Amino acid sequence: MAVYKGEVSTLPPDKSISHRAALIGALASGVTEITNFSGGFDNQSTLEVLQACGITLTQEVTPSERSGSVRRVVIESQGLWSFSRPEAPLMCNNSGSTMRMFAGILAGQPFDSTLVGDVSLMKRPMKRVADPLRLMGAGVSLSESGTAPVEIRGTRDLRPLIYELPVPSAQVKSLVAFAALHADGESRVIESLPSRNHTELMLGLPVEELADGRRAVVISGRRPLEARPFHIPADPSAACFLIALALLVPGSEILLRDVCLNPTRAGYIDLLLEAGANIVLENVREIGGETIGDIVVTHTASLEPLQITDKAVVANIIDEIPMLAVLSACATGSFDLEEAGELRTKESDRISAVVSNLERLGFLCEEYPDGFRVKGRELEVSGKVNIETFHDHRIAMSFAVADRALEAELDISDREIIGVSFPNFFDILEELKA
Ligand code: S3P
Repeated sequence: MAVYKGEVSTLPPDKSISHRAALIGALASGVTEITNFSGGFDNQSTLEVLQACGITLTQEVTPSERSGSVRRVVIESQGLWSFSRPEAPLMCNNSGSTMRMFAGILAGQPFDSTLVGDVSLMKRPMKRVADPLRLMGAGVSLSESGTAPVEIRGTRDLRPLIYELPVPSAQVKSLVAFAALHADGESRVIESLPSRNHTELMLGLPVEELADGRRAVVISGRRPLEARPFHIPADPSAACFLIALALLVPGSEILLRDVCLNPTRAGYIDLLLEAGANIVLENVREIGGETIGDIVVTHTASLEPLQITDKAVVANIIDEIPMLAVLSACATGSFDLEEAGELRTKESDRISAVVSNLERLGFLCEEYPDGFRVKGRELEVSGKVNIETFHDHRIAMSFAVADRALEAELDISDREIIGVSFPNFFDILEELKA
């Protein structure tokens, strides 16, 4: 069996922070320089929709000794109302973050616009976008089933809003914050379960702790927003796939450099440590409000089965659950997930996508509305097994890891979709193969 060893300085830059850096750059007055911007398709979709709305930006890729190449994006804007009416529907491709967060900005612009996406994105729920924006005074129409196309009738007269998030969603929190920057007065977004907090950190928004333990992000509308530079750390959600690979494959040891370890993103590392994983964090430091560090991960023969049944934990590790499920199934034959109905609304229905593919690999699973259980491996399948990715990058990568760990012969459909977040995924696997 191949062994995976070595140092990785070429993980993709964080997808969530890259989206926000580009959107905030377009909202700020002046020149925003973003270093280490992500070349993933999703982040490129954000740049494309900004350009389609008249934002001036340049992107250049320069060779780097340390990390192969670095992508630098420079955005020039005059502030909150620098957008112009797009000539055609704005194509967000596979990127839910682009569609949802940009909708918040478009709601505050004095023109009509329409957001569309690929087959996967056109099926995802957008009522959570429309509801708060309508309350703020924008017109929003959706398809009959509450999905895109999202048609927005923007207004310069958005009203401020106090909004309790109905689902723990950083995208919804951010879209309300972006809209609220345009509103005349102070808004608050209240969340009962913490979701990733990059938007608050990057905009320097005050966060209040309420008497009942919930958090309220406070947004003052129409304040001048000055351009500032951003440097994007490596993506912890991408790191998760390599961590799982090293944990599963005997003899493996991988060092991942400069990964974002923001506590609202790195909960899966705590979970793995509790399960006995050989993971050490080194060189942990703070840059631009974000915690960053190196991760050393070594094969762990005696990993405990993972059980994820707490809502707050689910919100913190939402993107890593497919990989954690496949890791736990392959390492221990067992996995438990509850309180994770949100997973059905991602790039695919990730509960049924993981279950159906694990079943093809011979695992015995039981699926419920908000989760599933893996109860063991009934049979060792032999020969080629088809894996259906459902046009979902994280499903494709989770099973690409299983492919290597089980030494199976998996035929993964639609592998190019991995480029959405991790274009050099297979290159890194090849480099690490000893
Ligand atoms: C994201 C938030 C999460 C996550 C998505 C990126 C973000 O979605 O699944 O991949 O950048 O804010 P929700 O906010 O809808 O949970």
